[in-house]
Amino acid sequence: MNVNVAKDRLDQTISLVREGYAFIPNRLHSQHLDVYETKLLGQRIALIGGEEGANLFYDSSRMKRNGALPKPVLKTLFGEGGVHTKDGAAHAHRKQLFMSLMTPDALRRLSNLTTAYWEEYAMKWEKQRKVVLYDESRELLCQVACDWAGIPLGKKEVEQRTEDLSKMIDGFSALGPKHIESRRARNRSEKWIRSIIEDVRANKLETREGSAIHEMAFHLDENGDRLDTEIAAVELLNVIRPLVAISKFLAFGAKAYADYPETREKTKESDEYILRFAQEVRRYYPFAPFLGAKVKHDFTWQGYTFRENQLVMIDLFGTNHDPRLWENPDQFDPDRFKDWKGGLFDLIPQGGGDYYDGHRCPGEWPTIEVLKASFGYLSRKIDYKVPKQDHSYSLSKMPALPKSGMILKKVRRK
Ligand code: HEM
Repeated sequence: MNVNVAKDRLDQTISLVREGYAFIPNRLHSQHLDVYETKLLGQRIALIGGEEGANLFYDSSRMKRNGALPKPVLKTLFGEGGVHTKDGAAHAHRKQLFMSLMTPDALRRLSNLTTAYWEEYAMKWEKQRKVVLYDESRELLCQVACDWAGIPLGKKEVEQRTEDLSKMIDGFSALGPKHIESRRARNRSEKWIRSIIEDVRANKLETREGSAIHEMAFHLDENGDRLDTEIAAVELLNVIRPLVAISKFLAFGAKAYADYPETREKTKESDEYILRFAQEVRRYYPFAPFLGAKVKHDFTWQGYTFRENQLVMIDLFGTNHDPRLWENPDQFDPDRFKDWKGGLFDLIPQGGGDYYDGHRCPGEWPTIEVLKASFGYLSRKIDYKVPKQDHSYSLSKMPALPKSGMILKKVRRK
């Protein structure tokens, strides 16, 4: 047997729940392994990580996505029939739709909108005794997302829509009532977006060419047909839901400012440093833990035989903390990105590989724009106090978040 491969004999589902983000690193890093075969919910799963593991995971001649995502995740987080589940030409065609939204002009508009909403919220916060930044930034980003995508959103709707989009994100890994609530939130959200798409198609609502709502409503699939309203709604939610999810990175960024105050000072002075800071927030803090794909046909890699249709999981969090890729990986250090060359398979909080051919997140540039605008606003445009609170986070809770949600007091615009 190859020394770089090990196996669990007993089912490890309970360990996964207990260890969370550390589950794969605990198995691969500690023994310097390339592949670790585990058993989850009775299924034999190959765990891989690191730059070479990511390269393999994104090799579409060996891996496929169709059938890799469990139903409970599709029913809550991603929706059914969307880009996440497609392979080959059908995937490339759908992915092009998303990538076409990410023009330099659109990204500039997103950045400007983000700053404008921060300004609006900061005015409100000046009158409040305290602010829970995570809660506030979810609403703020829900408005940014709908505005950017061209979705009408009345002020009275903001709270409910934000709540539903958040439940879809947080409920996918939950069991029992929280999971059911998450499914209901998806059903409500899909219904809402479907009716808006119907209005657009019936010319009851004007849209701007290039906006997400316009492109989703009028996109023609690879056979030249319009998307079913259901699918168009799923894909439009695949734009606004993750924009709201950026609030988790915002809470972690505010935590980093509090824990390493020198970083906040440096972001005041340099746009280049804000980018480094944003990249380090995306690398260092836990977000998407791992991803799944299925083996297309039998092959052997590093002495391990992957079997057709076997599930494979790539470790995102562990690769972002892999000591072979990052010096002192468990240290928060934005300057590590000073001379970073930007590999396709090393910094992978939003997946790796190519945007067009593979499943790498098309929202990576928008995410970076929102983070730069937000961290810039937080350091340059407002003063605030961070009162005593528990802003620690647990790696066993997925998705992770600072416990207090990051409480700020005495917010004042400069
Ligand atoms: C895919 C994370 C923001 C849209 C993904 C994937 C991850 C991810 C891990 C899976 C990659 C894979 O399957 O290989 C994140 C995180 C975000 C974020 C952590 C920020 C908090 C965004 C934004 C958008 C977006 C802002 C849209 C504007 C998508 C879509 C896919 C995707 C459509 C599916 C791509 C495909 O299957 O080809 N994202 N994302 N994401 N993301 Fe994001």
